[in-house]
Amino acid sequence: MSTQLHPPRDEEKIPLKNSSNNVNAPIVTSKQRRAPRSRMDLVVLWLAVFLLAVLVVIGAIDSAPLRSLQGSAATNSNQTASTGQTMNMGSDQAKTGPASTAAVPAHQTYNPQIPPVLQGSTVDVKLTIKEQLVTIAQGVAYHAWTFNGTVPGPIIHVRQGQLIHTTITNDGSMGHSIDFHAAQTPWNVNYQEIPAGTSFTFTWRADYPGVFMYHCGTPTVIDHMANGMYGTIIVDPATSWTPAREYVLVQSEFYTAQNTDGTYSLDSTKVMNDQPDYVVFNGYANQYKDAPLTAKAGERIRLYILNAGPSQFSAFHVIGAILSNAYMDGNPANKTQGNQTVIVAPGGGMVVDLTIPAAGLYPFVTHSFADASKGAMGVIKVTP
Ligand code: CU
Ligand code: CU
Repeated sequence: MSTQLHPPRDEEKIPLKNSSNNVNAPIVTSKQRRAPRSRMDLVVLWLAVFLLAVLVVIGAIDSAPLRSLQGSAATNSNQTASTGQTMNMGSDQAKTGPASTAAVPAHQTYNPQIPPVLQGSTVDVKLTIKEQLVTIAQGVAYHAWTFNGTVPGPIIHVRQGQLIHTTITNDGSMGHSIDFHAAQTPWNVNYQEIPAGTSFTFTWRADYPGVFMYHCGTPTVIDHMANGMYGTIIVDPATSWTPAREYVLVQSEFYTAQNTDGTYSLDSTKVMNDQPDYVVFNGYANQYKDAPLTAKAGERIRLYILNAGPSQFSAFHVIGAILSNAYMDGNPANKTQGNQTVIVAPGGGMVVDLTIPAAGLYPFVTHSFADASKGAMGVIKVTP
């Protein structure tokens, strides 16, 4: 059985409003274009001004992009207010790229759901390294190095005790490698460079349960990781978790320099200076603001969080909720209770459980707010 990319969710895209400046723009333009020349024009103008004033007073015109979600999700005025406040805390500053002369591939929402656990005492995991143009924010096409063509790579789901028969095929133009944090295996034997155009196979046993990183470890390692060569392997405990609505979130950074054709590639100076342009969940700035994770009120939600870095710590936090349990690195033995924010180190993982009692919108962020403002934000939409 091999690991497949699961198809992107067919999420309904909820359009986000522009800023209030844009909302106001047509009226200002209209006033500047010509002065009213007749009594009728004056009446129309004053009616328009009055209508605008009424709209502003009742809050129909608002600078918060998430307002557009309220019609479908927020169920009372308290939730409406909290949503607007959230957005004003600054999650809108993730840049959008200037017009590109090259084709920007359409973004498909990364499926955050966990694929079924692979069955059998020995399972096959196949990864193919590909150089691929991916979209990392609205209008921003980035020349990534990938596992299976996406950033992050596919979610691999196995069970504690299984033997993992791994085959890595390098379809790229240079040497790459693999490093499974869930494995205990000699680096100089199995994490060696895999030359372009070749494959490499080895077998290891998943001894510990958890949410683990896999990544390329070829020097310069930070560049290979910053270019997108990482993904999540979830090892279920031998005794399973309690049932829950489960999602996977991978936080990571992009450091970009624009090419002459408008696409982007890695900026190694920004990488070394720790100056990301984008910090994202599952490879795309603010993507779960557009396509929220969903849950029912009172339902246990379990988030498998991986921080692929390469350099920023994550301070994972859900606005309006408390994490009932958190398990460092996703091991059930590492249980803490009642957390507000959990630290997920670069190269580390965390499983958090939460049960949200009331319907509404619950943004999740890294509480390192400079990073949230660069795109590390999403929403859990809870329905009754
Ligand atoms: Cu690599
Ligand atoms: Cu590592």
